[in-house]
Amino acid sequence: MKVKLRPTSLLLLVTVLCSAGVFARSQQVNITVKANEPGSILNKDIYGQFMEHLGRGIYEGIWVGEGSSIPNKDGFRLDVLNALKELQVPLLRWPGGCFADEYHWRDGIGPRESRPKTVNSNWGGVIEDNAFGTHEFFALAELLGADTYVNGNLGTGTPQEMADWLQYITSDAPTTLVQQRKANGRDKPWKLTYFAIGNEAWGCGGNMTPEFYTHLYNQWASFAKTPQDNQPIMIASGGTDDSTIWAKTLLEGVKSSWNIRMDGISHHYYTLPTGKWDVKGSATGFAEDQWFSTLEQTLKIEDYIKANVAVMDQLDPDKKVGLYVDEWGTWYDVDEGTNPGFLYQQNTLRDAILAGLNIHIFNRYADRVTMTNIAQMVNVLQAMILTDKEKMVLTPTYYAFKMHTPFQDARSVPVSLSNTPAYEFNNKSIPALSASAAISQDGNTYLSLVNTQEDSAITINLLAIKQATGWLLSSTKMDEHNTFAQPHNIEPTTFNAKVKNGKASLTIPAKSLLVLNLGKL
Ligand code: AHR
Repeated sequence: MKVKLRPTSLLLLVTVLCSAGVFARSQQVNITVKANEPGSILNKDIYGQFMEHLGRGIYEGIWVGEGSSIPNKDGFRLDVLNALKELQVPLLRWPGGCFADEYHWRDGIGPRESRPKTVNSNWGGVIEDNAFGTHEFFALAELLGADTYVNGNLGTGTPQEMADWLQYITSDAPTTLVQQRKANGRDKPWKLTYFAIGNEAWGCGGNMTPEFYTHLYNQWASFAKTPQDNQPIMIASGGTDDSTIWAKTLLEGVKSSWNIRMDGISHHYYTLPTGKWDVKGSATGFAEDQWFSTLEQTLKIEDYIKANVAVMDQLDPDKKVGLYVDEWGTWYDVDEGTNPGFLYQQNTLRDAILAGLNIHIFNRYADRVTMTNIAQMVNVLQAMILTDKEKMVLTPTYYAFKMHTPFQDARSVPVSLSNTPAYEFNNKSIPALSASAAISQDGNTYLSLVNTQEDSAITINLLAIKQATGWLLSSTKMDEHNTFAQPHNIEPTTFNAKVKNGKASLTIPAKSLLVLNLGKL
């Protein structure tokens, strides 16, 4: 993408006044958007989605089958499909997750009525009828115009099974496997953007040590062959939370060889309000202590990324290998009355604020973090969309992603905040304001702001701008959310600040996400 910079865009100075009530504790902060210092491209796949065979994430949530009474196109429910189109989903990861390491791709091809029935041993022990398989996944990606990320089965598969799957997806050669694909209704190979060898090898993917997995990666990657013109970006399963040993061991141990590629290392981090897996915290009905602790927990991801980037910068200074946060988001105690194996949770304003914070962090490391996947797209964990039979509701996280679509493939520009106001709670402190800016493909500069504070608005003075229009997502309630009975409780509202002589003054309410188009600077 070419970005033309105009002299007038050299410096955008934003003054921020932080106020509690009527300017009590008022604080002045300057934000400098350095539009003349273009940074990395924000790969659109940073805003990627994850869909696993888990609970109602795929079945009911996306796939209802052609015979369903729910309106559908080729088996994909139309309401969800249209909402995802609107969201401009850039990338889909499938089929897991933990599920990936027990998934045998041949179960999911051919006539649906003769596909085998298996048990989903990771997620609720339910029967998997394999109605959604390789053809359905790529059909969905094509309907959405999304890149594709397939996670291979290292845990219970074989290098041969994986090589066959890759051939089935990517080859145009006149082989028996390709003939089979054609007989199953797909003539041309599909475009496979990313392929991972295993998932969470340290845990559900096989409880391996980094050294053992690295040996296996060398072996399996040697046979993961695809045609020259359809080579996926190859991903090794990496660490979680604060671990850096996976990135280090992989970078030191994966051979540099003509038939082995490792283009990215995955990393997972989930945000739990309490930080504890036994009692994680509730999705709704929480008090300010868990509003604060959830945001505090989520911000830790920056340290984890920073630590991994430091290791990678040392061992891969040319930044040939990406750090892919291919699972992130909130993980709460499941909603009462739902199957604990289905990981169904409500989604509130807190999730949207948290999504904004994570997006800002990913944008800051976009030269290394070129792809991420929020977990998960529909009905599972921090979902964009919730469904209940024929009903569908869009979550605050959906709107947070929608508001950031101008950031897809945009050119990041640095934002510096001086005197960052602090949000203090119980002797702890996090930044009250977070910001990220980019020059979009349309040439306009976009500024994304998050006010993390539960009760304090922030007044901003923007200087040297052309316009300040956009979208605001906010509420007076910390756990404001949409329900099937009241699907429009929380939605973005248009925001239009008056600009006079290149200046504007505006207020970001407490607990809010604001994305502004500042015009062509
Ligand atoms: O997203 C839910 C699960 O979380 C995934 O299957 C697994 O990779 C992670 O532990």
